[in-house]
Amino acid sequence: MKTYKLSSGYEMPLFGLGTWKAVQEDELYNAVREAITIGYRHFDCAKIYANEAVVGKALNDAFRANEVKREEIFVTSKLWNDSHAQGDVIPALQSTLRDLGLDYLDLYLIHWPVCFKKGTEFPTSTDDFIPPENLPISQTWQGMEKAVGQGLAKSIGVSNFSIKKLKELDKTSKIKPANNQVELHPYLQQKELSEYCNANNIALTAYSPLGSMDRPSSLKPENEPSLLEDAVIARIAQKHNATPAQVLIKWHIQRGVAVIPKSTNFNRLKENHDAQFVGLDEPDMKKIASLERNFRYLTGSFFTQPGSGYTLENIWDEV
Ligand code: A2P
Repeated sequence: MKTYKLSSGYEMPLFGLGTWKAVQEDELYNAVREAITIGYRHFDCAKIYANEAVVGKALNDAFRANEVKREEIFVTSKLWNDSHAQGDVIPALQSTLRDLGLDYLDLYLIHWPVCFKKGTEFPTSTDDFIPPENLPISQTWQGMEKAVGQGLAKSIGVSNFSIKKLKELDKTSKIKPANNQVELHPYLQQKELSEYCNANNIALTAYSPLGSMDRPSSLKPENEPSLLEDAVIARIAQKHNATPAQVLIKWHIQRGVAVIPKSTNFNRLKENHDAQFVGLDEPDMKKIASLERNFRYLTGSFFTQPGSGYTLENIWDEV
């Protein structure tokens, strides 16, 4: 499997399993076990997905069954928005490690550049937010750096960060972020952000690579464009005797971007894994590049109620 050598010196497999929205416990447990058998070696988790204990049980059962060793897999998790205070980072990471049944993470990310008061999972009022100026990300990052110092995370990074925020972080960080996990697919190609990350040795990971159609309806407006039903993607898939999902996945791998499609279905787990064997050519890559429409499936608008201190402008730093 292709890997990306992170600035920390560790290798990150470019293909992994997404676990957001995998809420049914047996299904997720079986999916992780099956994924390991198929050859998945990268698992993307987060505290807020509320399923790390299930992923951890499956991983540890696979270790015990000698199907894979801890050092052969790459596990990512993410700090939730309520634990951005410098002193809250290590306890949050320890809690995630307990849930996952692991001694260390391969990669720990700041999930969002958005802060909540301690104990807030999802804000119900503007009082649940801490405005960005009251808790600078540099403080959170110091906690992240301590995690590396204590051997709890091999690499650290961020998620949903703009170029502006990466540049701000660069001013004060001792350890540079190894990774930025963002929404990335042919309808949102993030050209400038990709160029900045490439130039600064920040690996990119693409979330929602298939369009995350299983989002809760509250996060899913009607009449969204469907990547999996895109006619151009379908034609490229047909040409290679592949599926649209495989084209969408291989597009990232071929560009050196990590990709973490979520599936709990055995056939689709295998299909997605086998995307790495599809070979896209230059004309395919050009046609896919022409699909750009600056479209986000996850707009971040769930963080922007008036009075929260957060707006779409100050989250994405786009005008
Ligand atoms: P399922 O878990 O039943 O396979 P994303 O990774 O962009 O968040 O998308 C996840 C969604 O895409 C889930 O609904 C998942 O359903 C579905 N999915 C995953 N792999 C495929 C595939 N190969 N073909 C079609 N849908 C897929």
